[in-house]
Amino acid sequence: MYKIAVLPGDGIGAEVTAQAVRVLEAVGRRFNREFTFTEGLVGGAAYDAAGTPLPKDTLELCLASDAILFGAAGGPKWDSLPAHLRPEAGGILSLRKELGLFANLRPVMVFSSLENASTLKPEVVAGVDLLIVRELTGGLYFGKKFREKLPDGGVRAVDTLEYTANEIDRIVRVAFDLARKRKGKVTSVDKANVLESSRLWREVASAVGRDYPDVGLDHMYVDNCAMQLVKNPGQFDVLVTENMFGDILSDQASVLSGSLGMLASASLGGRTALYEPAHGSAPDIAGRQLANPIASILSAAMLLRFSLDMGKEAGCIEKAITDVLNLGYRTADLMEQGKTAVNTVEMADLIIERMLG
Ligand code: IPM
Ligand code: MG
Repeated sequence: MYKIAVLPGDGIGAEVTAQAVRVLEAVGRRFNREFTFTEGLVGGAAYDAAGTPLPKDTLELCLASDAILFGAAGGPKWDSLPAHLRPEAGGILSLRKELGLFANLRPVMVFSSLENASTLKPEVVAGVDLLIVRELTGGLYFGKKFREKLPDGGVRAVDTLEYTANEIDRIVRVAFDLARKRKGKVTSVDKANVLESSRLWREVASAVGRDYPDVGLDHMYVDNCAMQLVKNPGQFDVLVTENMFGDILSDQASVLSGSLGMLASASLGGRTALYEPAHGSAPDIAGRQLANPIASILSAAMLLRFSLDMGKEAGCIEKAITDVLNLGYRTADLMEQGKTAVNTVEMADLIIERMLG
């Protein structure tokens, strides 16, 4: 019996997570596995109910579970709260930090039926299969930050970007270990022509690379990487980078797969691993069953593979998604002429049907 903590959070988080849970239940039926799902409050929803975006109960639930399925955090309703009470900093970022989840894996795969769904030319995106390894508990997100009033009546805001060599070493090793099981190529992304933290990043990445003579390593500036991702994404296997660089590059890379609604993620390295779609709470479409649940469902597949050693079960989910897309079903974010539009629940129904059928 496996214990899954389910933290739907805000906006479309609740809608998509509900469908990922249904898919896991289908895995249970098909493969005779037993899961228990326990819901916890997080983000704005938790602030409204309990006055804090990360209640102690939620953290305890996470620590007592085998894996965490997370939805999304944030929304305009909570945008004017002080930083530590906001769903983002106080909710998901604190959760990542508290659990020690320093390694965020964001696979960008292009399903062949979606080669035309991208705004980029099909020949550019065809066959793309890359993995962004984003450092998740350090860097610009977690450096010292403050505001101060200036003597002239003005105001100054400060964010800082800090890394220790150890923090860099451990995330780069994750990238190399994964590359070894893939195409054997790591691209370390930095801004070493300007930033001191990036110069250290580059040194450490090169040193780690010497422990992996079988894996190729190159270094790329983040601005160039942003360009290469849309110009020739097929060149990449595993990218490893600083927290904020990874945040930005992963949204950009999601367009290769057709939509941010296709981008799953796994956050590893801590006490209990967390799985979440890379998209946010999308308040503009929340509550209307318009969201694409596939990023959340693919995150559930990653949960099975990484936390529960259920590769076959994960593969069954991925195959069902491939089939449903091949049959031409699309949520609004992926809709093209000649395809069949479905909503959040219908997309999950179709996936489950294929899994059990
Ligand atoms: C992501 C999201 C979060 C992040 C936000 C919601 C804080 O954009 O997971 O990429 O910036 O990490
Ligand atoms: Mg992001």
